This record gives sequence, C-alpha cells and structure tokens, in this order.
Amino acid sequence: MKRVDDFRLHFGKHELVPIMIGGMGVDISTSMLALEAARLGGIGHISDAMVPTVSDRRYNTKMVSAKQKLYKFNIDNSDKSVVQFDLAQLAEAQRNHVEATMNAKRGSGMVFMNCMEKLTMNGPKETLRVRLHAALDAGIDGITLAAGLHLGSFALMEDHPRFRDAKLGIIVSSVRALQLFLRKSSRTGRLPDYVVVEGPLAGGHLGFGMDWAEYDLATITREVLDYVKAENLDIPIIPAGGIFTGSDAAGYLEAGAAAVQVATRFTVTNECGLPESVKQEYFKANEEDIEVNGISPTGYPMRMLKSSPSIGSDIRPNCEAYGYLLDANGSCDYIEAYNREMASNPGAKKVAVFDKTCLCTHMRNFDCWTCGHYTYRLKDTSVRNADGNYQLLTAQHVFEDYQFSTDHQVLLPKAA
Ligand SMILES: Cc1cc2nc3c(=O)[nH]c(=O)nc-3n(C[C@H](O)[C@H](O)[C@H](O)COP(=O)(O)O)c2cc1C
Repeated sequence: MKRVDDFRLHFGKHELVPIMIGGMGVDISTSMLALEAARLGGIGHISDAMVPTVSDRRYNTKMVSAKQKLYKFNIDNSDKSVVQFDLAQLAEAQRNHVEATMNAKRGSGMVFMNCMEKLTMNGPKETLRVRLHAALDAGIDGITLAAGLHLGSFALMEDHPRFRDAKLGIIVSSVRALQLFLRKSSRTGRLPDYVVVEGPLAGGHLGFGMDWAEYDLATITREVLDYVKAENLDIPIIPAGGIFTGSDAAGYLEAGAAAVQVATRFTVTNECGLPESVKQEYFKANEEDIEVNGISPTGYPMRMLKSSPSIGSDIRPNCEAYGYLLDANGSCDYIEAYNREMASNPGAKKVAVFDKTCLCTHMRNFDCWTCGHYTYRLKDTSVRNADGNYQLLTAQHVFEDYQFSTDHQVLLPKAA
C-alpha cells in the first residue's frame, strides 16, 4: 500500500505535501501550528474566530476592553442590537493576525485562513466581508469558507484584486451543499480551488443534524468525487474527519482525493493553542467521555468532552465584550436560555444553563473542549511520563507520521 508521501497536491505551479491542518478556533490552530505545516511543505490554517481577542493576546491591542467599555451601559439589556463591531478595528485585528503569520512563513507550503459564516457578529454580511477582504489584503495564501453554506461569500470578495489569485475553498458535508454553492457562486465566474468534504467524525461544529452517526466520510467523499467527475470539474477534493493514521490518509488519496484535512492529532502538540492541562484532558479521554450535543448557539451540533466547563455553566452573556454569535437582530440562543433560567429562578444570583452555552466566553477561555471523535485514540500516539501525564508531541512529529507511516502504524515519540 502506498503512503501519503507518494502523492502530491497540485495547485497550479505549486506542489504540496497533501496534508492540510484544519482551522481550529479560537486560536487552537495557532500561527505556530500553521507555520509548521507550511514549513514542512503542506498547508496550515489559522482561524479568524474572535480575531480581536486573538489580536489583543498576541499583538498587544486592547480591542475587547475598549468594546466592553463602549457598550457597558447595555449589559443588563437582553436586546443586544446596539452592540456593533467597529469594522475598521475588525479589519485591523485580522490584518495583525495574518501579517504576523505571513511574515514568519518559511518553506514551500501555504497558510490559509478558516473563515466561519456562522460568526454572524450582529452584522453577518458586513463583518464577513471585512474579514475576507482584510485577510486578502494582508497576504493570506488562501481562505477556507467554513461553518455555513457561504452562498454569497464569493460575491463578497469579487471586487478584491486578489479574488482570482488567492486560493479559495469551501467546506461541505454533502454533494447537495456543494451543488448549491457552485450554483450560487457561478455568477462570479470562478470555481473553488479546493473542496474540503467534512464527515461526521470531525471536531468543532458538524454539518449534520443529531443523526450524524448515520453518515460516513468515505461515502460522502465518493459521492463528491463522482459528482465533480461527471460535471468535468477539475477541483481537488479534500476529505476530513476521523483520518487518524497515515494509512487512513493514503487510502483516501488512492481513492482519488487530492489531499486530506486533519486536526485532532495536532491538538496535543506543543504548537497547538490549547493550554497544557487541556491537552492532557484530550490525551486521557476515553470514548465514553466524548459527546455530540446541541449546546452551541449556532444551531449546529458540536462534539466535545463531557467534562467541558462550558456545559451547564452559569455565566452571564458577555456580548458587550464579544458578541460573535449575535444574529442580524442582536440576539443569540444563549441569551434566551439564560434569561429563561433567570426568570424561573427569581432571586438567584447565578443559574446553570444546560441547553445552550455562552460559546464566545468559553471558547475564549479554552473551556469548551471541542474535539474530534477519535480523541480517545490520542493516548496511543504518545508515551506517558512518570507523573502520569502524556508527553506532548511536536507538530513536525505528527505531520511526518501522517506523511511517512504505513500499515496504520503510529510513531511514538522518544521518551524525554
Ligand atoms: C479542537 C478543534 C477545533 C475545531 N475548530 C474548527 C473551526 O473553528 N472551524 C472549522 O471549520 N473546523 C474546525 N474544526 C474541524 C477541523 O478543522 C477538521 O476539519 C476536522 O477536525 C478534521 O478531523 P479530525 O479532527 O478527525 O482530524 C475543529 C476541530 C478540532 C479538533
């Protein structure tokens, strides 16, 4: 059987190792992680989820506290429609993140940005347009359109001078979603440069309902490959979700995929943005410790560790500081759930909310431990130290294990 290194992903004159590390917000797929993928000849992603927060943390800005101060008067109001993002500041945050990353880029690979439509930010169209344009302005190699159907996103970038030269791709979970996207985007006269087909075993939000277990990546990938072939479309297809070993990846490449997108195995690397204690939670997780639930206010099911502090938490909505999931009318399902609990517990200072979570605050604090289905296999990818903790891996180690391993073997690190 072949190994991943027997294949290459071709983007025009670019030849890449066909391994793409998927975007993981909020700053879980850090610049450092994406840059390692690029240095090793593959593709890495940074994410623009809550990018002003990332800018504050990494580039010494004070955007979040300034916004919170500006809208402090509204904290007790459940109508958040006044809480708007300053578009110039949003663009600045995006440029800070992309420029710093691209300036540090070495090697022959690429760095893309994962851009989620579901971050509606109390102004879905304008805020998405600003994020897309600023990323292109700042020199990102490509943009992966994620978490949404993105039926209007190509049109939002059409007037940008880099619209035809940057690599633009979309994540879909069905042929139908791809067909819709192609139909709606055809007016711009541009096809996507790649399509990520994300199956139900992925981490983060899922493009399926709670019946996700009835679908499988191999079947959906086959359907998408058949469709593009039948339509004579020359678009690289990149499956994602549950591709755990180099041999899993090589199997997809042999079946006609152009590359694979992977993430879970990189959550326990030094370069991943999760705090070390959370990486240990991922290592130690067993299959029964993981669930897919409906607590994300986006309406998409999300996979996470059952021990995530975000489940059943009692925090007040923090939209004045964040507000990334506010819809076009300034509401969010968490605000409704929180207010309902407060109303049915008069006098209580704090109430636990179980059906929804304040995703912004918890993702910002790394308290929503979203993860891929095979997180419970991470313990088989490292060695245990005398203190019971697992040894973190380097991104290079995991990347090269995908690239060179055979027979479903996983290379363990040398004990420190
Ligand atoms: C911790 C974590 C966070 C993620 N966050 C995002 C995200 O913000 N946007 C997105 O499009 N996909 C997200 N994903 C999905 C990955 O980009 C990727 O497509 C998928 O997890 C690949 O499957 P694997 O984790 O089994 O390798 C996330 C995955 C993980 C594990």
